[in-house]
This record gives sequence, C-alpha cells and structure tokens, in this order.
Amino acid sequence: MTAALISPALSELSPQLAEPLRLAVLASGNGSNLAAIAAAIENGDLNATIQVVIYNNPAAKVAERAAQRQLPAVLLNHRTFASRAALDEAIVQTSQDAGADWVIMAGWMRRVTAVLIQAFPQRILNIHPSLLPSFPGIRAVDQALAAGVKITGCTVHYVELEIDSGPIIAQAAVPVLADDTAASLQARIQQQEYRIYPAAIAIAAQLAGKSTAINLHT
Ligand code: GAR
Repeated sequence: MTAALISPALSELSPQLAEPLRLAVLASGNGSNLAAIAAAIENGDLNATIQVVIYNNPAAKVAERAAQRQLPAVLLNHRTFASRAALDEAIVQTSQDAGADWVIMAGWMRRVTAVLIQAFPQRILNIHPSLLPSFPGIRAVDQALAAGVKITGCTVHYVELEIDSGPIIAQAAVPVLADDTAASLQARIQQQEYRIYPAAIAIAAQLAGKSTAINLHT
C-alpha cells in the first residue's frame, strides 16, 4: 500500500492548454525515470517535449532508452572535463542549444555547481529515492533499511547546491515491509517515482507562472 503526499496548495492544479514545457533530462544510469516522463508526454498526461537527454556515462542504459524513443542524446562524460563547473558549463550550453528551459535530473549522480543553478534559476528539478530530508546522497534505499524506518518513499525537489536539498514539490510514501531487500524496496519506490515526477514537473511549471496541461489520473 502506498500513499501520495502532495502539498495542499498544489492540489489546485487544473488542466489547461498551454505551450509545451521544453525539457533537458539529465541521467547517469538506467533511465527508467526518463522513460516514465516520456510515457507521460506520449499519453498526454504531461504537456512537454524532451529537447535533449544528457548523460555522463558512456555505457549508461539511458542512451539506449533515448534512442528507442528517437530523443536526441548527448554524452558529456564527466571524466573529460577539468572541473565540475566545466561540466556544468557544457550542460548549460547543450541545454540552451537544444532550446530547453527546464533541467530535469532523473538519476543524475553528479554534484551540481552554481554555474548550472544560475543558468536555470528555479527551473532545475531532481528526484531522490527517500523522503527528504532523510537519507540524502548515495544508496538512499540502503540507508533507509539500515536505519530501520517503517516508511520511506521518494521526493521531487528544486535543486540547490547542497546534495539532494532544496524546496520540496511532491513526495510519495512507501512502507518498508518486513522481508524487503534493497531491490524489492527500490522497485516499489520507483513505481511511485514514475507517478510523481511527471506531476511534479507540471506543478513546478504552474508555480513558475507557466501553466501547462496535466492529468494526474487519480
Ligand atoms: C532513481 O531512483 C532516483 O531517485 C535516484 O536514482 C534513480 C535513477 O533511476 N536518484 C538519486 O539517488 C539522486 N540522489 P533511473 O535511472 O532508472 O531513472
């Protein structure tokens, strides 16, 4: 059993016709959140276009997922940049060249710098597999199991400099079951991620004054 927690002010969202949001999606690995966002767009649940997918690991499965959907994908291998700021400069340039006005971190496992944050103020979102502010950083699901919490979940938030910090847009709670392994718990958390991330993108756009179509199917 799971429960969605979306702050009350945000429940006033209503479907509206508007220009599509133009997204740059940043991912480091599997890319299942990219797939969920793309599916929400295809289904008409989120009025957006993915202008570019940026990934930093040459072997990341997200590249395959982008290709399957004919989404433009750009590899910015962090190992080839002199600094975090230099990588972020390339991300800004690539996103702007692609015409994106929102940066969506979907399993992006690099620390961000002021270079990126200042280029897209209030327009960078991240998803994290815990109920922040609990368990930021890597292995959030393992951290939750080790702490013995009975409820964990996932969070979509605006990105600030400190890792996995920034104002929260949406959360979903996921109970920890007695026989959970990291894999089983992560799988249930991810099901919730796929549900709340497209909704949170639309909510953030609405809060930014750019209304967009949303259908939460709840
Ligand atoms: C997601 O569970 C996301 O919450 C997490 O990485 C996973 C990526 O999965 N992000 C973080 O831990 C950020 N600190 P995906 O590549 O299948 O979308």
